[in-house]
Amino acid sequence: MQTLHVLCRNATNEDVDSLYQLINGYAEKGIMLPRSREALLRSIDTFVIAEIEGKFVGCGALTKLGDDLVEIRSLGMSEGYKGYGIGGLIVEQLISNAKNQGISKIMALTYAVSFFVKNGFEVVDKEIFPEKVWTDCMNCPKRHACDEIAVLKKLQ
Ligand SMILES: CC(C)(COP(=O)(O)OP(=O)(O)OC[C@H]1O[C@@H](n2cnc3c(N)ncnc32)[C@H](O)[C@@H]1OP(=O)(O)O)[C@@H](O)C(=O)NCCC(=O)NCCS
Repeated sequence: MQTLHVLCRNATNEDVDSLYQLINGYAEKGIMLPRSREALLRSIDTFVIAEIEGKFVGCGALTKLGDDLVEIRSLGMSEGYKGYGIGGLIVEQLISNAKNQGISKIMALTYAVSFFVKNGFEVVDKEIFPEKVWTDCMNCPKRHACDEIAVLKKLQ
């Protein structure tokens, strides 16, 4: 694994099936919100994917919550590819994309707190994100008892 070359790139329409399988697999375990193929196609330009020798191994996406705030969503690795630093590479690429859009704050709602802290995020109160409440949360089965932790990173 250490000698394999990981490529992080922006997703294209050809990645939709891989994204669909990974995201909905995690959605069945309650870790992510499900996404239809149509929704994925509509938001394909927000996704970054990681691949090794042409094989899809993970993804993440950025959703704009406000003029200066984006959220990391749908971040996940394929089984067998966790713990090799690839999630960190995807977050780096998402941060770079956010900076290119002139955004200075990036947040996530997550159970993987130590992963985000390791990548320079700090734990914050989710109430500081009023932008978040009326978007995806409305469709989330856990919206009245959200137990995810908010993390934030300010970009230079
Ligand atoms: C969370 C996830 C994306 C991290 O990607 P990864 O490639 O495995 O992570 P990296 O190898 O870059 O970093 C590993 C570090 O993150 C931490 N980490 C990984 N998964 C974690 C989790 N679920 N909870 C807390 N910390 C986690 C590990 O402790 C590890 O730290 P260490 O190297 O000091 O042991 C991946 O484990 C995953 O797909 N998990 C399931 C889906 C998920 O929970 N997504 C997050 C939704 S916001």
